[in-house]
Amino acid sequence: MQDKYLDAVIVGRRHLTDRISEFLIGAANGVALPLAEAGSHVEMRFGGAQGRFLRHYSVVGPLSPDQPSEPFWRIAVQREDRARGSAFIHDNLIVGSQVRVSRPLNAFRLSRHRPHHLLVAGGIGITPIFAMARSLLTRHENFSAFYAGMDRAAMAYADELEALCGNRLTLHESRTAGLPDLDRLLAAQPQGTQAYVCGPPAMIDALVAAAARRGWDPARIRFEVFNAAHKPEDTAFDVKLKDGATIPVGAGTTILDALEAAGLETFADCRRGECGLCTTDVIGCDGVLDHRDHFFSDADHEAGRQVTICCSRITGRVLELDI
Ligand code: FES
Repeated sequence: MQDKYLDAVIVGRRHLTDRISEFLIGAANGVALPLAEAGSHVEMRFGGAQGRFLRHYSVVGPLSPDQPSEPFWRIAVQREDRARGSAFIHDNLIVGSQVRVSRPLNAFRLSRHRPHHLLVAGGIGITPIFAMARSLLTRHENFSAFYAGMDRAAMAYADELEALCGNRLTLHESRTAGLPDLDRLLAAQPQGTQAYVCGPPAMIDALVAAAARRGWDPARIRFEVFNAAHKPEDTAFDVKLKDGATIPVGAGTTILDALEAAGLETFADCRRGECGLCTTDVIGCDGVLDHRDHFFSDADHEAGRQVTICCSRITGRVLELDI
């Protein structure tokens, strides 16, 4: 059977913004890596021989439309103050560092034959959106792109995206322009537009809500979530297992990471609240469940019988799980 992970090595690294760096990942044996279609991500294991961390990163691909492919995978990683994985990457991965990387997976595909495509990116969510813009250009399809960030200096690939998209692109700097008016953005789209959004959960929720207000079919919004697992106000708590053991979950880590670090067998795929594979039954909680997934319905969240342990947490001290 084909191994899910390839031995890979960092073949390039550069600074994009104060918090974002770009990494080029090449195969350890020097052969060209498989093509990653627009919207794909790879799973990367890093941090020692056992691969202490596992994270997903979208493949940006070539920065120019004239270059159909490149022999490595280009990813961009934003340093999150309270997320150990991104801090480890920024502090430790240099050219020559060894990592294990999955083949590309794609749960965020471009549709074919739509009259128009709207690409919406917030912050580091630009990574799959950049690849989609390049792909739509190559396919000569109609599209427009909207990229929001705090200010231009904090927006990775802003220059390259501008060169790629020309007047199809709107750059939105929230520091001076405030929150983007997503109702207005959707109102300006041609009939039958298919939208794709990648960014912070609040931005995705706002776009989905704006589309619902305008009567859009929910299938016309595709999204990919970043940073669902961490918020500045997160606090530490304990997870209590059925055998009575207690696993501490720090403010900057997830339940899933804490269980894995303790050597427990877990199931997970997307690690950002989309696939539902990490769903675990809740036995009890002395506080409030803080659901951060996009897998369960509001009614499921309200019932509170299960949690996605890759991103959800609690405000309280102890969460008792059926593990
Ligand atoms: S691993 Fe996919 S929802 Fe948790």
